Amino acid sequence: MCGIVGYVGPRPSQDILLAGLARLEYRGYDSAGVAVIDGDGSLGMRKKAGKLAVLRDSLADAPLPDGSTGIGHTRWATHGGPTDVNAHPHLADDDKLALIHNGIIENFSALREELLADGVVFRSETDTEVAAALLGREYAGNGGDLELAFRSVVNRLEGAFTLLAMHQDHPGLVVGARRNSPLVIGLGEGENFLGSDVAAFIEHTRKALAIGQDQIVSITPDAVTVVDFAGTPVQPEPFDVSWDAAAAEKGGWSSFMAKEVAEQPEAVANTIRGRIQDGQVVIPELDGLDELFLGINRVIITACGTASYAALVGKYAIEQWARVAVDVELAHEFRYRDPVIGADTLVVSISQSGETMDTLMAVKYARERGARTLSICNTQGATIPRESDAVVYTHAGPEVAVASTKAFSAQITALLLLGLHMGRVRGAVADASVDVAELAALPEKIASVLEGEQEHVTQLAGWMADTRSVLFLGRHVGYPIALEGALKLKEISYIHAEGFAAGELKHGPIALIEPGQPVFVLVPSPRHSALVHSKVVSNIQEIRARGARVIVIAEVGDAAVLPFADEVIHIPLAGAMFEPLLAVVPLQIFAMALATAKGLDVDQPRNLAKSVTVE
Ligand code: M6R
Repeated sequence: MCGIVGYVGPRPSQDILLAGLARLEYRGYDSAGVAVIDGDGSLGMRKKAGKLAVLRDSLADAPLPDGSTGIGHTRWATHGGPTDVNAHPHLADDDKLALIHNGIIENFSALREELLADGVVFRSETDTEVAAALLGREYAGNGGDLELAFRSVVNRLEGAFTLLAMHQDHPGLVVGARRNSPLVIGLGEGENFLGSDVAAFIEHTRKALAIGQDQIVSITPDAVTVVDFAGTPVQPEPFDVSWDAAAAEKGGWSSFMAKEVAEQPEAVANTIRGRIQDGQVVIPELDGLDELFLGINRVIITACGTASYAALVGKYAIEQWARVAVDVELAHEFRYRDPVIGADTLVVSISQSGETMDTLMAVKYARERGARTLSICNTQGATIPRESDAVVYTHAGPEVAVASTKAFSAQITALLLLGLHMGRVRGAVADASVDVAELAALPEKIASVLEGEQEHVTQLAGWMADTRSVLFLGRHVGYPIALEGALKLKEISYIHAEGFAAGELKHGPIALIEPGQPVFVLVPSPRHSALVHSKVVSNIQEIRARGARVIVIAEVGDAAVLPFADEVIHIPLAGAMFEPLLAVVPLQIFAMALATAKGLDVDQPRNLAKSVTVE
């Protein structure tokens, strides 16, 4: 959940670190800090509670001495509140050594006791300072070998961590390690970088190396070495970053979220590109896996948050097209029960970041239990795809706003592709031409919703800025979209919101309806199922009879809903499985506009972080 950046090279590091942190701030934004080793070989450090801007202002008022070796951190608090003292870096060895950390050191209490008994005095409440103190003690005890000391420390830590450290006696060296938490290397000319993800150094280089689990990396201006926790050399895996620095910038947009909502046609088009051949869906990354798709009798899709709602849409599509049973499991629930899985189960994980700890642990668990694993991921070189048997990348580009939008659309697109691919391989889809044409038409239809409904929905949100609760109802694939609409609103506008399966209404939630209660209803096309459509229309009448203010999302020309709706938001005609990608757009715009009307920061909502790398 924290963002980490490291630099060694010929340039002053402070601005490079701050620019890297600005790009990583989505990972955590309750405090930030940097440390640099200056030309005279002394270590300077500054850290501040609050957003990065607070640290920036402090450094502008009183800059640290220039230094070309540095580390920087942006924090999402776990152990100890967001204060100056608890911010990273943490210092040790008489303040000559600085260390930053992302993750949770689970055995920090025992280590802290051990260090206290040794006379160490702690300044903060963090687990991180324990790692710093341990490193300082090892370093002092081994005659000043930082890499050796680092190896000894990581072998004593339990939990999840990415650590970076440097010592003023070794200018030009930053050492890092990772276990269940992300770290990538950026390769420059006469300079090298470390970052939680490539955004940390994208403006300097697009050449990167992925570091595996339980590995330690040392960077100097001219060299990169990687070893495992036993000290055995390892060859890191090179990859080129496919997007450029501009993709991770706000451009002229008011927020990253606004930009990312608008980028959905492109995100969907890029995810489809290269995966349709001769009118059929063929996912090249899945070549050679036909036997797997023929051999399974069950699919479990596991994910968290928004990705789990994409998974629910995937369940409907894969079951329909591939005729195999699909269950959707929240990753943190799946792993802690005793699921019946084995070699005939395909566990599909979905993650934008590829680093969500709950999802990562579910994937590892599934593998240990003999299941086959496939991940759908938006981030190259991330841990979850590296831990899976196969990966289908979404190509949404970097998603910076905490509230996921374009990644969600790309995830549904990838699941639709997977369903059609599996359907073809399993011989369950006789003719996919209509669905393939629907897929190809999606980007244009999403663009038309963006264009046609932006103003209307924004106006609606403005009128509802004082609303205290909003409900969302849907059936079939509209149900996950109701859940997603509610989550978007909760996340960024802090308004109570609930999504329900419309059929569930009469089993309890209808008690919530009182005069004036706003309810969004996702109406499926009557062309897909007159029966399901008529059931939703009945649900609308039921809530309207109790005074609800009904806002309907329905396809153009659906006259049946008009008499019962206070507001109608139109989406273009589309196949049943494709409607979610259109219906979600007004809900994203609504949440964003409502939060904006309340004067809230839509990109960095309170208490949240973009990638949840703790369990
Ligand atoms: O990176 P992931 O897709 O694994 O993240 C999963 C959830 O944490 C994420 O979708 C979260 O729910 C978003 N903030 C929703 O907007």
